[in-house]
Amino acid sequence: MDTRTTATTTATTQDARFLTEANSVATVNARMGSEVSPRMKLVMSAVVEHLHALTKEIEPTHDEWQQAIEFLTAVGHKCTDWRQEFILLSDILGVSMLVEIINSRRPSGATENTVLGPFYVPAAPRYENGKNICLDGKGDRLIVRGKVTDLQGKPIAGALVDVWQTNNDGFYDVQQKDIQPDWNLRGVFAAEQDGTYWYRSTKPRFYPIPDDGPVGQLLGQLDRHPNRAAHIHFIVSAPGYDPVITHIFPDDCRYLDEDTVFGVRETLIAKFQEVRSTDDATKLGLQDLDERLPYYFVNWDFVLTPSAM
Ligand code: BEZ
Ligand code: FE
Repeated sequence: MDTRTTATTTATTQDARFLTEANSVATVNARMGSEVSPRMKLVMSAVVEHLHALTKEIEPTHDEWQQAIEFLTAVGHKCTDWRQEFILLSDILGVSMLVEIINSRRPSGATENTVLGPFYVPAAPRYENGKNICLDGKGDRLIVRGKVTDLQGKPIAGALVDVWQTNNDGFYDVQQKDIQPDWNLRGVFAAEQDGTYWYRSTKPRFYPIPDDGPVGQLLGQLDRHPNRAAHIHFIVSAPGYDPVITHIFPDDCRYLDEDTVFGVRETLIAKFQEVRSTDDATKLGLQDLDERLPYYFVNWDFVLTPSAM
């Protein structure tokens, strides 16, 4: 008989005394005391069940198990106040994105969430609409404009649009503190009475996640590249509404289908249009903005849902 098929059956009084291959899950879970909270019980029972199933499926050698322990130890050692290698690991395994999706199920038409990422900095400068947040002048000029509304299309005046992105070299300001101006490519804008927000920036480009640690080595062993599809990050919030943590992705990025953290969603892909002439600008309703040609333009609306009571 293949003993592995009985792994999750309840241990009898007799075989729960000592752990065997057949009773391992039930034996470990039976050790939990009576004071365990129902949620803890559910979570840890499932962790044990899946870990044992994984171990029985893989049947690791001692050397392989040692390598796994050393890998996780290296992940821990790489963590500092500003570097969280465990989150990076969860990101490249798709778990961060899954947690995000599970925790932000919204009606169709509402803006979808994606991963926050490690480079959000709270309390970015508040700017008037129209401000250019690209303080290092690098890259292709970009205008981002749109509305913040509810599901019925009603404008949400005063909604805050908090934005951040890398510069044209593919780094966030906080990764290059002595190179980029403070708060480069970050800012918070408030939607006007009709829900409109707009600002100037630079067209985002793809960039690698920090890959100089054990997670980068793992990506190499998996024959995977470290690149994120080009994107702009947003947190859009307003009193009484569920805050949206999201990105938009230019539709011409070659990494759209292979974002290393699985953050791309179909509904977040945006057309970044090139504006080469005053005619182009007029067609897009941009004639009054007085921006130097050529530049890119993206029109992007955010749709918020009421916060859960
Ligand atoms: C980011 O988009 O900034 C990011 C997300 C996950 C891991 C690393 C970077
Ligand atoms: Fe990012």
